[in-house]
Amino acid sequence: MESSRVAVGAMPGLPLFGNFLDFRRDRLGMQLRAVMSADVTRLRMFWRTVWCVGNHDLAQQVLVTDEDSFIKGPALSEVAKPLLGGGLLTAEKDQHRRQRKLMAPAFTPRRIAGYGQIMAARASAAAAALRPHTMIDIAGAMMGTTLDIVGRTLFDVDLMGEAREIGQALTDAMEYMIEAGMWLIPTALPLPRNKRILAAVGRLDATVLRVIAERRAALAVRADDRGDVLSILLEARDDDGAALTDRQLRDEIMTLMLAGHETTANLLAWTWYLLAIHPEVRARLEAELDATLGGRPPTFEDLARLPYTAQILDEVLRLYPPAYVIGRMAQRTVQLGGATVAPGDIVIISIRGMQRCPVYWDAPDEFRPERFADKKARTSPGYLPWGGGPRVCIGNHFALVEAQLILATWAQRFRFRLAQPAAIEPEPLVTLRPRGGVWVEVEPR
Ligand code: HEM
Repeated sequence: MESSRVAVGAMPGLPLFGNFLDFRRDRLGMQLRAVMSADVTRLRMFWRTVWCVGNHDLAQQVLVTDEDSFIKGPALSEVAKPLLGGGLLTAEKDQHRRQRKLMAPAFTPRRIAGYGQIMAARASAAAAALRPHTMIDIAGAMMGTTLDIVGRTLFDVDLMGEAREIGQALTDAMEYMIEAGMWLIPTALPLPRNKRILAAVGRLDATVLRVIAERRAALAVRADDRGDVLSILLEARDDDGAALTDRQLRDEIMTLMLAGHETTANLLAWTWYLLAIHPEVRARLEAELDATLGGRPPTFEDLARLPYTAQILDEVLRLYPPAYVIGRMAQRTVQLGGATVAPGDIVIISIRGMQRCPVYWDAPDEFRPERFADKKARTSPGYLPWGGGPRVCIGNHFALVEAQLILATWAQRFRFRLAQPAAIEPEPLVTLRPRGGVWVEVEPR
């Protein structure tokens, strides 16, 4: 099948703009067309060459074997600086390696089992607050629940009171970063939008820095492991014995809050949508929950005995990967299949394109959770929802445990009927969101 694609494609573009306007209008469709037709496709955004990768082996080359030839790029780090500072998502090279090592102990299986207790309790609390026979935007509800969970698991804080404001501040800031990154507008310019975003970041900062100060004060008196990520980071030491400064702690917490909240919420929003339009999958899910749990709320320990629940999430991640594209900038010349990537060129790996490509998947647009009945399918060619190599998502187990617990807890108690007949379109912002939300009617089971 691989032979139906050419090795290197090119998309016709406009003078000056190149493919920029098409990209802005329909970046998902454009990537899918590129992936269907070639292993790697050349695009142009103004003066810059962008290579869209749709071949699994070439994606591995960028992320793993040749990862040293690429950086995330100045656009991301410059524009993201007010929000994420030098956190793990934006750090490069040695700095990245150092930070990844410091953060790893916060994501061990034992630690995640601890977060799992908090996640299960918060998922139940959120379900208890649902009123039967009302209409809700379940995508918004998932944003609130995942923000609540990151607040408590990252730094033991109740963000629920501030959920809407913080969620909005994070979203505004990230959307702005995408736009500004594309146009390379410095965030320091005194434009009204810049001012609004910086004010939102200021409010987030105040919360995070207050918590760090309180926790340092508590630690000065006695050992204080609260089971959250901050407890690990406060005690983390470099090879040369150095601890993280307040600023570094703030950057890492902000990064995790941002990387960990909207992604997981969108995975769940798409899950509820797909379950609502696939009653046969929902029935099988309910049968598994009833047989395994017998009506009691799920715990972290139950997850291994809920394999179909996990398969549903793996398949939703294939169809609607929240991180639908990964970008890098070449630092030196790289031979990528038939393409010669020059220093300064951008490479984008189209995760969604590959995950919907018939080269890798039978009936790629169909929702079939049983594709993942064998866990090995998670390492299939053409499946990269978590990225790969040294920068693979550090929170992937965290996210799967969280999503499985929320899905099991809510689906055990409720059915959600779609309140709109039309198909929901993906909106490719920072993550892949359901456009307009997912409005459903809450029905008790
Ligand atoms: C469904 C949920 C999630 C998805 C689909 C997802 C996806 C990804 C992907 C594709 C990357 C790689 C980006 C790249 O290589 O440029 C990534 C990186 C990252 N993710 Fe996630 N993520 C999710 C949840 C989380 C959670 C829950 C956390 C933290 C609690 C998290 C924290 C991070 C961080 C810090 C990085 C940067 C890692 C590094 O560069 O070393 N993510 N994520």
